[in-house]
Amino acid sequence: MSEHLKKVRILTIGDIVGRPGRTLISRKLPSLRDRMSVDFCIANGENAAGGSGITPEIVDELLKSGIDVITSGDHIYKRKEIIGHMRSNPRLLRPANYGERAEGTGYGIFDLPAVENAKIAVINLVGRVFMNPSDCPFKTVDAILKRIQSVTELIIVDMHAEATSEKIAMGWYLDGRVTAVVGTHTHVQTADERILPGGTAYITDLGMTGPHDSILGRRKDRVLEAILTHMPKSFDVAKGDVRLCGALITADVVSGKALEIKRVQVGSQDEP
Ligand SMILES: [Fe+2]
Ligand SMILES: [Fe+2]
Repeated sequence: MSEHLKKVRILTIGDIVGRPGRTLISRKLPSLRDRMSVDFCIANGENAAGGSGITPEIVDELLKSGIDVITSGDHIYKRKEIIGHMRSNPRLLRPANYGERAEGTGYGIFDLPAVENAKIAVINLVGRVFMNPSDCPFKTVDAILKRIQSVTELIIVDMHAEATSEKIAMGWYLDGRVTAVVGTHTHVQTADERILPGGTAYITDLGMTGPHDSILGRRKDRVLEAILTHMPKSFDVAKGDVRLCGALITADVVSGKALEIKRVQVGSQDEP
């Protein structure tokens, strides 16, 4: 290993769902950051407000709880009050491949307080398979990498997508060019975390930070009723078995290569 090796630990957290997810974040994240020596924390917040969207108040609440950057996805604009707020808060990202006319920004470069002069870039993409149309995430990320690679090698990509294949394709496409590609959106944590040959950490889905006694975070009785009757139902956020799901990535600051990726699941009853 290089003598310049300086390790950083980046905690990436999957979709935070509603108040149960937010409450667990505020209760657990500060001590989890300490215990895992986390230098930087990225979380997907697209479901933080009542299960869909995010508000300016919730952005502030999550940032205060120890999240450094909030990524999102297809639900980003569901709460209208966030729209005018996106320009003023660079720590809240929307999918970069929504194009330039969409409110907000799809990537950012942030100071990494643990290492002098070090920066970390975060890029948010959305998939196109079984999802609404958007620009090509592959071409979009190429254009962003051209702009940022002279600033930092430490680059984390949240690939918010439905199809496993599209997320794995993005992992291989970016292998050796970014520190990590982490998937979000399906709300189910996958067990395929690994370091690809070029040094990119990869996991298909970080999983959900919210109630797991549910169907993807929503009350199972309501969802089942809708499935069985075809009648519209309000899919309220569930309550039971709240867990924080994500992955801890260790990386070399200078090369930007990932050294390790470990899945994380913390329940409300777990220590700390
Ligand atoms: Fe989600
Ligand atoms: Fe989503």
